[in-house]
Amino acid sequence: MPVSESNKIYQEVIDAMIAVHRLTDGYTPNHEDQTAELAVMIGRHLDLATERIDALHMASQVHDIGKARIPLALLTKPGRISVEEYDVLKTHVQFGYEILNKISFPFNLAEIVHCHHEYLDGSGYPRGISGDEIPLEARILTVADIVESMSADRPYRKSLGMSAALDEIQRQSGVRLDAVVVDACLDVVKRSNWRPISN
Ligand SMILES: [Fe+2]
Ligand SMILES: [Fe+2]
Repeated sequence: MPVSESNKIYQEVIDAMIAVHRLTDGYTPNHEDQTAELAVMIGRHLDLATERIDALHMASQVHDIGKARIPLALLTKPGRISVEEYDVLKTHVQFGYEILNKISFPFNLAEIVHCHHEYLDGSGYPRGISGDEIPLEARILTVADIVESMSADRPYRKSLGMSAALDEIQRQSGVRLDAVVVDACLDVVKRSNWRPISN
């Protein structure tokens, strides 16, 4: 998706970061790409201004860049992971935020990434913030991230299927996830028959 002319240089910075991440992780950047595609479709459905769509697109493309600091063996570990391993995994949000916050984007890209595992009811991480403290772009990214993750094959398990993914966001709608965003996601997936491309 081409961003606006004024944001081209930022997109180039993002593309360079992704290229480095791809050298060591053949999976995460593809997941981010697919998530970005779906997030932008939801953002457009909600009539977000062009600048906010650009920010949502680029933030989604690097939302898991902090995973570059997590051992690949843990990222691809099949089966259950321990509480300690989950704590290590969770640190990808803070790492990602710290990397992206070094760049003076003219929009809240680092903050969107910082919030992509936060939930409306305050049960997310890393800060446990809630409601409107979470930017709309992050609430969109969170929904797109869940749908992509569940409906795509992951290194440690096969796809759970799109209908399971859509059931899951409906189950969390209005509690952990923004109901308006969930409805928009259901709409765009059904209308376009969107599916992640298997890696
Ligand atoms: Fe993440
Ligand atoms: Fe993700």
